[in-house]
Amino acid sequence: MTINRFNLSGKTALITGAAGLLGLEHAAALLECDACVVLTDISERQLDEARIKLMDEFPAGKVLAYVIDVSTLASIHAVQGNLLKQNIVIDILVNNAAIDPKVMGDAGIVQTSRLEHFPREQWDSQIAVGLTGAFLCSQVFGSAMAKSGNGGAILNIASDLSVFAPDQRLYRQEGLHDDMQPVKPITYSVIKAGLVGLTRYLATYWADKGVRSNALSPGGVFNGQGEEFVQRLSSLIPMGRMAKRDEYRAAVQFLCSDASSYMNGQNVVMDGGRSVW
Ligand SMILES: NC(=O)c1ccc[n+]([C@@H]2O[C@H](COP(=O)([O-])OP(=O)(O)OC[C@H]3O[C@@H](n4cnc5c(N)ncnc54)[C@H](O)[C@@H]3O)[C@@H](O)[C@H]2O)c1
Repeated sequence: MTINRFNLSGKTALITGAAGLLGLEHAAALLECDACVVLTDISERQLDEARIKLMDEFPAGKVLAYVIDVSTLASIHAVQGNLLKQNIVIDILVNNAAIDPKVMGDAGIVQTSRLEHFPREQWDSQIAVGLTGAFLCSQVFGSAMAKSGNGGAILNIASDLSVFAPDQRLYRQEGLHDDMQPVKPITYSVIKAGLVGLTRYLATYWADKGVRSNALSPGGVFNGQGEEFVQRLSSLIPMGRMAKRDEYRAAVQFLCSDASSYMNGQNVVMDGGRSVW
């Protein structure tokens, strides 16, 4: 008889930013392993749509949905309280929420994505969601996991840009002066590297309480981006293509289940080989 170490029946997983492109995939991944999933995001409408999509794919799945703004402790506590009233405790936390504005250039417009002009407000708001949000959710749900005696798993969704710097040539646009060229903003690199630090800190902090913490660093997912960008990016990837949106499901299942019971504090980079070329 084989033991299914990926089985998550009886476990509840909370995903932040769950209504987005990858959040939905993380939820589907965990539903495939029979976990109960708690979708959380800032928009109630998008959460409803996400829930409907998942119920279509998993008619027997247990899917709850709550609005959480991860940058606000009160919002996280409110949902935890609501879940506790229903005797629901979180065993798995996937810190996935982010503000990742599209990198675009406009002739004649000063590129505020560029470091020289990057607005402090954008620095604050993006860090508040991508990094502080992961800290706050870990503080609330990780502390409860540690206290429960049952342990748990925290998965921080970083990026291949947690291990190397953005190649700004990817975003270059013909005919724009250097000062006007759009770039991947500095916040992205800082947040993603910060998430790896958070992962290591939590991994050691709660190791004796059975709470494991790991990071997943995905490479770019194809989602209808322009042909030129896709070609440029693909040429930097040994496998010659961007990821399909569902290609991270198995890694999420591994990192959130007993299949990875001895993995703690690691950053799993899945990037088609880009970081080793
Ligand atoms: N898509 C990719 O190619 C890719 C590659 C590497 C890493 N990632 C990372 O994966 C994660 C998901 O990316 P995605 O492509 O699905 O992005 P997405 O923009 O589709 O989803 C992000 C979600 O976060 C939510 N969000 C924003 N502010 C929030 C807040 N204050 N509180 C709660 N939720 C909030 C958004 O509403 C959105 O649904 C991000 O951390 C991203 O950096 C994505």
